Amino acid sequence: MGKNIVQKILSSHLVSGRLKAKTEIAIVVDQTLTQDATGTMAYLQFEAMGLPGVKTKLSVSYVDHNMLQAGFENFDDHLFLQSFASKYGIYYSKPGNGICHQVHLERFAVPGGTLLGSDSHTPTCGGLGMLSIGAGGLDVAIAMAGGSFYFSMPEIVLVKLSGALSPWVTAKDVILELLRRLTVKGGVGKIFEYGGEGVKTLTVTERATITNMGAELGALTSIFPSDAQTKKYLKMQGREDVWQPLKASANAQYDETVEIDLSSLEPMVARPHSPDNVCKVREIQGTMVHQVCIGSCTNSSYHDLMVAAAMLKGKKVHPDVSLTISPGSRQVLEMISKNGALTDIIAAGARILDVACGPCIGMGQAPPSGGVTVRTFNRNFEGRSGTLDAKVYLVSPETAVITAIRGVISDPRDYDMPIIIKDPKTFLIDDSMIIPPSENPAQVTIIRGPNIKPLPKKEPMPDTLHGEVLLKLGDNITTDHIMPAGAKVLPLRSNIPAISEFVFEKIDKEFAKRAKEKGGGFLVGGINYGQGSSREHAALAPMYLGVKAVIAKSFARIHRSNLVNFGILPLTFTEENDYLVLDQGDSLELVDIKKQLKPGGILVVHNRTKNKEIKVTHLLSSREIDILFAGGLLNYQAQKN
Ligand code: F3S
Repeated sequence: MGKNIVQKILSSHLVSGRLKAKTEIAIVVDQTLTQDATGTMAYLQFEAMGLPGVKTKLSVSYVDHNMLQAGFENFDDHLFLQSFASKYGIYYSKPGNGICHQVHLERFAVPGGTLLGSDSHTPTCGGLGMLSIGAGGLDVAIAMAGGSFYFSMPEIVLVKLSGALSPWVTAKDVILELLRRLTVKGGVGKIFEYGGEGVKTLTVTERATITNMGAELGALTSIFPSDAQTKKYLKMQGREDVWQPLKASANAQYDETVEIDLSSLEPMVARPHSPDNVCKVREIQGTMVHQVCIGSCTNSSYHDLMVAAAMLKGKKVHPDVSLTISPGSRQVLEMISKNGALTDIIAAGARILDVACGPCIGMGQAPPSGGVTVRTFNRNFEGRSGTLDAKVYLVSPETAVITAIRGVISDPRDYDMPIIIKDPKTFLIDDSMIIPPSENPAQVTIIRGPNIKPLPKKEPMPDTLHGEVLLKLGDNITTDHIMPAGAKVLPLRSNIPAISEFVFEKIDKEFAKRAKEKGGGFLVGGINYGQGSSREHAALAPMYLGVKAVIAKSFARIHRSNLVNFGILPLTFTEENDYLVLDQGDSLELVDIKKQLKPGGILVVHNRTKNKEIKVTHLLSSREIDILFAGGLLNYQAQKN
């Protein structure tokens, strides 16, 4: 039987296991990436392993999330990251060089390779035929140390594309349509492999928009073939030498097939407060808006900003709208400034922001209270914009621009003339903001400002866990709910004692205080607990506050792994109705854990307050169980060494 693309890459990187769905496998990681919000912690974890340098083919440290240097903390972090990268063999992409995924696609991604990134949108590089997976920082630290990446073998879904996109319909509309059909849970335990005749009509950056937002489906990753479009893109980036063809064998098998006729699609929009709350733009056109933001790792390519410039040329942003534009990379910004497109954007009244994540991670540009903001980003969870009651709509750049001009949500097909953007002959290549590692690492001193605090330690798991339910939560709790981002909190990412004060801040201001007073305890959650970003602080900070176990109806993949990595037991109800038996303040106990905790096993939770017992289970492999008993992945790795 022939192989599909995913099987081909996994086979050539397989270290242990078989490619059988739902069994644990481990692969070699060729490349890693970190960003500043996850990188400092990943590097402290790598340092704790005591190695002289990284063992990957390539590792890159990006600075893109936290660019507001309102205090010393951010610059402290940047100096730490730069000196650490220099000493340990990591490339350092300076602040201002671009968003990790955009720059990695441009300068480093390789078809057929594997990439592990401490950011949930790492699958962006799947647009170039690289198997790219988002994970917690500790998993990335282990990969940098030459360790394998373990995961449950997903099912492989073929997304068969036919036809071609109509004018004003974009790659963003393709992934929004998929989210409409499959929801934010539709990709859990799956990889989406794109194929069919429609694939060749999409450029690499269009493909990258689709694979980027595949993360919102809950998928492990998404991937496109490597074909003539890929070769053309790499040639334009001066990297044609890394191209290799990659396609599924003619008789390749898939677990499932989804078909999309590109020519049947229309401009789509995700309404508040979930990326799968999707409808046609037509259905909500006329909604008044306060703000439009173009950028993020989803939609900030050269093509995206050239479209924006062409639509804005000779026009003005609506008087009641604030339009912001954040280019995805310095390459893009330099090109649009050289060819005059930037002038058209500025003349129309747009505000040019830093080359960074910016408003996508709530670093500035919070909408007004109760405001409406239309964004080309990938997430619209409540509060992520920085304003709790703001309404965030997710759209393509084309829909965003016409909306900014008209002041109300509008269908780009109503724009008054056709726009054609020609590809440049070549991209502007200048890697001077990517600093290679030192040739004399022994002479490099790591710079540690006061914001760089040591890693908190965790003891091995005892045989009995007891404590109160510290908080009971509902469905779809995101990592933003658990560990908020934004200008106040992000600077504390290297300082766990300080950042842990903000855990669940938006849901229950007293949480951190109560957790400390009670000596830790349990959390109870609903469906899809921990969805959203790869933010390991959403496990690390609760661990610091003494959270011992989370009992939920189901978990999002990366967060579940992060809980294990930090020694917190992720348990699921065998009967969902037992959720009703647990309340905040109930005193719980799990005994004989060493005997009870086995792969596929069932544990009994005693609710001492209500004098009831409930049964819980888990998806833990025997390796994960060993990690939990060791008190987390770092302890486990140290024991192994
Ligand atoms: Fe940055 Fe937003 Fe992407 S925070 S990495 S632009 S999802």
